[in-house]
Amino acid sequence: MKTNVWTIDQATEQNKKRLKEAAEALQQGELVAFPTETVYGLGADATQETAVREIFRAKGRPQDNPLIIHVASKAQLYEYVENVPAYVDTLIDVFTPGPLTFILKDKGLCAKGVTAGLETIAIRIPQHPVARELIDYTNRPLAAPSANISGKPSPTTAQFVEEDLAGRIYGIVDGGQTGIGLESTILDCTTETPTILRPGGVTGKMIEEATGLSVQEQKPMNEDSKAHPKAPGMKYRHYAPSVPLIIATGNLEETIKSEQATGKRVGVMARENSLQALDVQPAVTFSLGDTLADVANRMYYGLRYFNASNCDVIISEAFSEEGIGLAIMNRLKKAATSIQA
Ligand code: TXA
Ligand code: MG
Repeated sequence: MKTNVWTIDQATEQNKKRLKEAAEALQQGELVAFPTETVYGLGADATQETAVREIFRAKGRPQDNPLIIHVASKAQLYEYVENVPAYVDTLIDVFTPGPLTFILKDKGLCAKGVTAGLETIAIRIPQHPVARELIDYTNRPLAAPSANISGKPSPTTAQFVEEDLAGRIYGIVDGGQTGIGLESTILDCTTETPTILRPGGVTGKMIEEATGLSVQEQKPMNEDSKAHPKAPGMKYRHYAPSVPLIIATGNLEETIKSEQATGKRVGVMARENSLQALDVQPAVTFSLGDTLADVANRMYYGLRYFNASNCDVIISEAFSEEGIGLAIMNRLKKAATSIQA
């Protein structure tokens, strides 16, 4: 299968035509990747069983890992869920469209594959204009996991989607690089007070301030975990670069030196300031910018950047778990092969 690419640049008539073509393909049950404000999603019409099944095939995704559906408005969100607590209404008004996914009781209107047998469904209202227009033209909810092969870093550009999925999906809408760079916050709203199942740009503190409720944060899990995480995807290793990744929680320079001392070709991923301050010369470096927002935006890019670098190991600096830092460290730990103090 040749994968079509529809490039959306400026607001021209051409763009509209391209998005309409992509929407028609989705209506016909094809898979189309598209940009959201977080990462690229691999979209399918959430109401078509065979289309949804194709998502799992294309990504090599475990069958027990449910999908997020993307809708364009609050009214559309309410069509697919029931027993919605009042605080969700507030959260929708304050944080959407935006990077916040609600887990709510499913009304059963989507294809079965979407929820992977759960009684709840994950639903969000994305902010990216291309995603919003595509949902409007398709006029269906779009099921969309991150548009990577399962286990790889989520794609922040259309080129990274192509790297993983060219030949396996019908098309890609190229809307440039995504803004936030890490996936949405997932919030379990099936209980009286909400629980964060996956940290993201909308933090617990922000949710507490908006609702006046106290917010729980579910502890990270891994594949060996005996517990059943509420977000099934959280138990799998994720975001892994093809080169081993060490997180240096202690002194970055010392960690680099000790790896170099064993004859390894070392790649380093860190903020600009930290790279400037190094007295050792790594073989390859990738700058994560200056602020934590820059780090979120560039981190998945960095993890893929080293694939072609011939490094034996990547060392990443560790970050404060404040604000978006919690989401950054959550993803980095899942991508890492080891953490060294
Ligand atoms: O920002 C995002 O959320 C991106 C963009 C494309 O929207 N999507 C994304 O989807 O990250 P994915 O499939 O890579 O991650 C979805 C996560 C998985 O960990 C999955 O287990 C969890 O959401 N999930 C889906 N449905 C759920 C449900 N009903 N209950 C609990 N967790 C659920
Ligand atoms: Mg994913």
